[in-house]
Amino acid sequence: MPLPHFLVMPYPILGHINPLLQFSQVLAKHGCKITFLITEFNQRRVKNAIEHLGSDIKFVTLPDGLDHDDDRSDQPKVILSLRNTMPTKLHKLIEHINALDGDNKITCLVISKNIGWALEVGHNLGIKGAVLWPASAIALASFESIPRLIDEGIINSETGLPTRKQEIQLLPNSPMIETVNLPWCKLGKKFFLHMAEDTKTLKLAEWWLCNTTCDLEPEALSLSSRFLPIGPLMMQSDDTNKSNSFWEEDSTCLDWLNQHPPQSVVYVSFGSLAMMEPTQFKELALGLDLLNKPFLWVVRPDNENKVNNAYPDEFHGSKGKIVGWSPQRKILNHPAIACFISHCGWNSTIEGVCGGTPFLCWPFFSDQFYNMSYICDVWKVGLGLDKDENGMISKVEIKNKVEQLLDNKDIQTRSLKLKEITLMKTNGGQSSKNLEKFINWAKE
Ligand code: UDX
Repeated sequence: MPLPHFLVMPYPILGHINPLLQFSQVLAKHGCKITFLITEFNQRRVKNAIEHLGSDIKFVTLPDGLDHDDDRSDQPKVILSLRNTMPTKLHKLIEHINALDGDNKITCLVISKNIGWALEVGHNLGIKGAVLWPASAIALASFESIPRLIDEGIINSETGLPTRKQEIQLLPNSPMIETVNLPWCKLGKKFFLHMAEDTKTLKLAEWWLCNTTCDLEPEALSLSSRFLPIGPLMMQSDDTNKSNSFWEEDSTCLDWLNQHPPQSVVYVSFGSLAMMEPTQFKELALGLDLLNKPFLWVVRPDNENKVNNAYPDEFHGSKGKIVGWSPQRKILNHPAIACFISHCGWNSTIEGVCGGTPFLCWPFFSDQFYNMSYICDVWKVGLGLDKDENGMISKVEIKNKVEQLLDNKDIQTRSLKLKEITLMKTNGGQSSKNLEKFINWAKE
């Protein structure tokens, strides 16, 4: 039986590209043929990753329909541009690949989210589809629950915003969440309407593969038999030494970490999208100074431009190191790391769990509030940072919570235990069995 040929297509942000690249590496290890579709704009930005991955994975590109200087951090604009310009080009590209590769035609399309229309293109060409969901399974479950939340009068059908402020439980045994923190609530009406539509198209996929394990989010996974946990992908892809990023990694921070004793450094990073406002940025800088502990702080170049000159005059940062982009997976496995101040993006969450690192949670939007609930209330491997009456996280709050976290031996023990349980699911565990099940389905 010929091995499956996958066309893998992420929505063009790093939080989606990374897990889909890891997934492609895992499939390639099983002998599958992979064509990875990336936008022309991003091809230049992930050049390193492409070079590292060698010939196992073939890269192809399509334009995203935007001008070179357009703001690609405006997600509704990107989503709309892709939907308006890409479907016909994707159709032609698949036909072209299949014509060239007659004996090994594309048999399965795997996408992330926000581009559900691609499954329709595949469907029209008789190609099977699957989704590799790049966020938590509970986020997928909440998008799936939108029609029910509308019917029950919990959210408004036009805006997605809560009809009143309340705490709800999406599924029996899942963590409680304030309705204002549902994954779409901070992203605007356009995004909500798109997501509601996109989730309907995702139903064309036979599998919704989740980068999680059956122990981490059992309630969310029980919502549908299509949800298949195959994570943590980073542990199966063996790519911790490879750099898949838009920004140049500053690996001098590893030498710097090597000079510090075990569990002494506070790592601070907010992923690839979150932008911190200048006033909050200053407060964080002063909070890190107050800690009187070594810290490693990632200030992305695009956020640094925005907060230009915002380091407060009083900030000396003498105990810290600031980098533009870190080799995060290596950092989180470094013995010198004591805890992780994180925005709780799903990739960072999984990476912190696999590093056995206690979290201090600072969510911004999307699934990050749900991920914080899992970290603090379900797995109990971290603490949340509380905002003051002005909506700010104060320097004193940062100092106090880091101290509380580092004094809490129970959280440290549970973090190591959770790491152990999570890693057991890979390499012969349930996640690898699920992955085999998926590959067998793709072969049929
Ligand atoms: C986005 C959404 O914001 C998030 O809510 C969703 O769960 C996934 O998609 P992002 O905000 O970028 O992702 O966060 P995250 O999911 O944590 O992904 C960031 C990735 O960048 C991680 O793989 C992390 O290792 C990497 N990273 C981050 C680095 O390699 N170096 C850094 O300095 C910072």
